[in-house]
Amino acid sequence: MCGIFAYIGTKEAIPFLLEGLKKLEYRGYDSAGVATLDNGRIFSSKHAGKIVELETELQKRPIGGKIGIGHTRWATHGRPSDENSHPHCDCKGELAVVHNGIIENYLQIRRDLAEEGHHFASTTDTEVLAHLIEKFLKKRGTSLEEAIRSTLKIIEGSYAIAVIAQKEPNKIIAARKGSPLIIGLKEGEFFVSSDIPAMLKYTSQIIYLNDLEIATITGYDVKVQSLKGDKIKKESVLISWDPESAEKGGYSHFMLKEIHEQPKAIRDTIAGRVKIESSFIHFDELNFTEEEARKINRIVFTACGTSWHAGLVGEYLMEQYVKIPTEVEYAAEFRYRHPIVDENTLVIAISQSGETADTVGAIWEAKAQGAKVISICNVVGSTIARESHGVIYTYAGPEIGVASTKAFTTQLTIIYLFALYLAKKRKSIPISEVKKMIGDLIEIPDKMERILLKEKEIEKIAKKYYKSNNALFLGRGKGFPVALEGALKLKEISYVHAEGYPAAEMKHGPIALIDKNMPVIVLALQGRRYEKVLGNIEEVKARGGMVISIVSEGDKDATEKADDIIAVPSTTEALSSILSVIPLQLFAYYIAVKRGCHVDQPRNLAKSVTVE
Ligand code: M6R
Repeated sequence: MCGIFAYIGTKEAIPFLLEGLKKLEYRGYDSAGVATLDNGRIFSSKHAGKIVELETELQKRPIGGKIGIGHTRWATHGRPSDENSHPHCDCKGELAVVHNGIIENYLQIRRDLAEEGHHFASTTDTEVLAHLIEKFLKKRGTSLEEAIRSTLKIIEGSYAIAVIAQKEPNKIIAARKGSPLIIGLKEGEFFVSSDIPAMLKYTSQIIYLNDLEIATITGYDVKVQSLKGDKIKKESVLISWDPESAEKGGYSHFMLKEIHEQPKAIRDTIAGRVKIESSFIHFDELNFTEEEARKINRIVFTACGTSWHAGLVGEYLMEQYVKIPTEVEYAAEFRYRHPIVDENTLVIAISQSGETADTVGAIWEAKAQGAKVISICNVVGSTIARESHGVIYTYAGPEIGVASTKAFTTQLTIIYLFALYLAKKRKSIPISEVKKMIGDLIEIPDKMERILLKEKEIEKIAKKYYKSNNALFLGRGKGFPVALEGALKLKEISYVHAEGYPAAEMKHGPIALIDKNMPVIVLALQGRRYEKVLGNIEEVKARGGMVISIVSEGDKDATEKADDIIAVPSTTEALSSILSVIPLQLFAYYIAVKRGCHVDQPRNLAKSVTVE
């Protein structure tokens, strides 16, 4: 996904822009560019390819200036090329714009502007912004803010933009609608960024821009106004993420670091929210009354990707413990299929980034139908958190690797706790059970640490299978979403074709795929369905398949039948997914490393999918 980083202050802008853009690399991109204002004139440099290429070019042909905007582009309209890279300029090169999002009505605007004599240098949707601002600026007495406001009133779609212009050379103007944008504040220096980790090295004091807000940033202050031009008072927020935690900290990849951070992330997520003795469970920003908790008669989880898998685990937990019919919907499907929800439906949106466009759309749809919406989010103050009636934050810390790991297990932690919270309010399970279940959860981080000690063992297994081009993941009950998640992890970072299936479904089709070249990863933990899973392992073995089983410590039967096993500490079935996914994350990680894949930034993928 595209990234924006901008600087205005007392120092040269380029080093800040390059550093900031590098921090945004994890979002996925195919080209990068910068523009500065130096002595009242615009200078720019932009290239298809990696930021190092832009850096090399800037060493050959440096550009100066203490005000600058930078961009990493992930192509949507127009192939990755130098011309299509941002920043984009007007006809005379007197203003420069970087943009994230999609201008849906750009074709018509472009035609109109071309007829009026504007010359376009790219095939992007973004370039119309530069020419529209140019057009409005030509009107006598029009300020840059006014020209941008007029432009934004015309365009349809989503945007986060940063603009600099020769006409008013002491400012950056930033605005957003549907794409995240934050402003960082430091004494005499200001930053604009698409996300928090890119900013943390410089400041933790930030302002979140809301949709349809425009910020004028000078070297002295930030003024925010609405599209109509009304002043908006904004408070800054102190972000408590430690800058170190947004760096690799000695691990070869962010993904590996984040896998290892899971015990801490779970402890942080639980901290202060539960007490066993009193069965206390509390969420600060939930905004959910006792009456609302009692009157809901349906729960709908909505999310995308890994967060959707967390929702699937939630379906099992809610129905089992809260006894409310629960469904899980892909956000992109939910938002457009006229869902039947009402004021007695609780919609739970799950998102790590809090910026996933489809999940935002699903929330809007649910609210429009009168449902109560609560989100489970990792990024504080993100769009999804703000758009929901209530929010429960996962305290996973920044997740940089594109493959979601600690976000998933913290989401599962919150879903489990929230199920207990509702079960308690609705008296659907005895208090003694709530207390026991809180106790079981508190033991999880230590158990995770024991799994992480098996890293070398898992690496060895990955070494044995890394050349396979296909893999099947099977699980039953709460093991089924884990099978889906294991398959997603493997395919997204190692480009191995992998499918997750409910184990019982295997014989209805996928069994035809099994031969000696097909590793089958089976979730075979102790529990109600254990014997049945043993039967599925037999079915695979009888057809010559290779079985890697995830078993409970001390297991005998599944261990005997499998070619390889990874044992995880025992826990209750309700918590089994949080533990059993960890070996699958490490398995996918080491397969990807052995295959020479770009683990943290897999091809074609973006960390935060802010377009539909
Ligand atoms: O930020 P979100 O949780 O809303 O993101 C949803 C998906 O895009 C995300 O989980 C994606 O599937 C990850 N690449 C999975 O590892």
